[in-house]
Formats: sequence, C-alpha cells, structure tokens
Amino acid sequence: MRQLIAGNWKMNCLSAEAVALAKDVAAGAGDIQAELLVCPVALHVAAVAQALKGSTVAVGGQDCHQEAKGAHTGDIAAPMLADVGAAWVILGHSERRQNHGETDELVREKCLAAAAAGLTPIVCVGETEEQRVGGQETEVVGWQISGSLPKPFNGVIAYEPLWAIGTGRTATEQDVANMHAFIREELVRQFGEAGRGIRILYGGSVRPANAPGLLAVPEVAGALVGGASLNAADFLAIARAARSV
Ligand code: PGA
Repeated sequence: MRQLIAGNWKMNCLSAEAVALAKDVAAGAGDIQAELLVCPVALHVAAVAQALKGSTVAVGGQDCHQEAKGAHTGDIAAPMLADVGAAWVILGHSERRQNHGETDELVREKCLAAAAAGLTPIVCVGETEEQRVGGQETEVVGWQISGSLPKPFNGVIAYEPLWAIGTGRTATEQDVANMHAFIREELVRQFGEAGRGIRILYGGSVRPANAPGLLAVPEVAGALVGGASLNAADFLAIARAARSV
C-alpha cells in the first residue's frame, strides 16, 4: 500500500490562495508514488476540488458535524463536504479537542456521520507534553482510540503528540516507533484482525528534512502535515520521501 501524505491547511488561505496552492500541488504530483490529500477550510473545498479535477490529489475537510443536517448554526455536515468533492475528513484534531471541547465520544459520532456520507475519516490522537512527562502517553492514546473509533472503523489514525504540533519539535524516530507499535497492538486488541489493516499516520512538525526518517519508521503509513503543507514545494518534497508500506 502507498503511504498517505495529507496536508492540513488549518485556518489558512483566502480562496485564490487555496486554489493556487492546490494547483501547484497537482502540477508537481505527477511523479509522486504516495497517495496525496489536501484539506482546506470547508469554505474552499468546492473550489479546491474543482482545481484538482483530473489530478491524483484528493480533497478532505477538517471537521464535520455528527448529524447529517438540522438546526446547528455555523456547522457543516459530512454529506455537504462529500457533495462538493471531499472524499476524506480529519476528525478529533487536537486543536478541535482543545478549542472546541471535543470529546472522544463526539469524535466517534462524527466518524459514524462521515462514514454514512462516504467520507474516510482521519482520526487524530496524541498526548500533551504534561502527559508524556508523566509517563501516561500510551494510556492516554489507548483511551482515545477506544473512545473515538466506532466499530467497525474504516478510516485512518493520525498520531500527533501535541507538543510536536506547530512547534518545530518532532518526536524522535524512536518515540514514533514505540507509539505506533503500541497503537497497532491496541488496534488488534480492540478490533481483532481488522485492526491490522488500519493505517497509522504521524503528524507534528513534519518537514522535508525529517520526513525521510519519520516515513521510514515501521508502522508509519504516512504523514499529516500542517505548516509545511502550505508550501507546495515542501509538501511535495515530503511526499517524495514516502515509500510503499
Ligand atoms: P504541524 O501540524 O505540521 O504544523 O506541526 C500538524 C497538524 O496539526 O496536523
């Protein structure tokens, strides 16, 4: 299977910038073996999907509501993302867990809504610095996995230690290897054989310079890239470091 390199554009880019960035990524994607995905703000999903038509680059949202429609001012439903061209959706990102109080249970409900709309969820898990210093990182991530993923789960997990997000500090390859091995064990314990097929991405300050090392770690099936995905050349350089898994 090819590694998945997903760009999380977060709350960046006006519409023309989003379209230009998407076109630059598509223009350089021709010789790339990895599976490519970009996730602009929901407002730009339609325009980015249009710009990427005919390319190998997929589009995703950064969140969705747990219900398919209704009286939820300001929210966006999974079928709406799918309707304008999204195939994926990031769920339970730590910025949503922290800034919007999203719980594991809510993330699980959102996964069900995404699946019902035909979107593939990328569910983010990861410990805070305090939890890692306290030696609780595996316990925290284990709970997040059991609470956030519905059964069955047809999606991808992204391990993103909070202290590595947007900080320029990456987890060491050994930290990543340990945690990804733990996540795999947990998935097999919780999902049986199906748990072996769930892809696990790493995220947190992935850059062209550290991508080859991180993407070579066992059980790393790709990367969720924030800051560096806003630069097409950097994002493509990361994708070029991908391998078959
Ligand atoms: P970063 O963000 O690459 O800027 O650290 C990663 C993420 O939050 O998905």
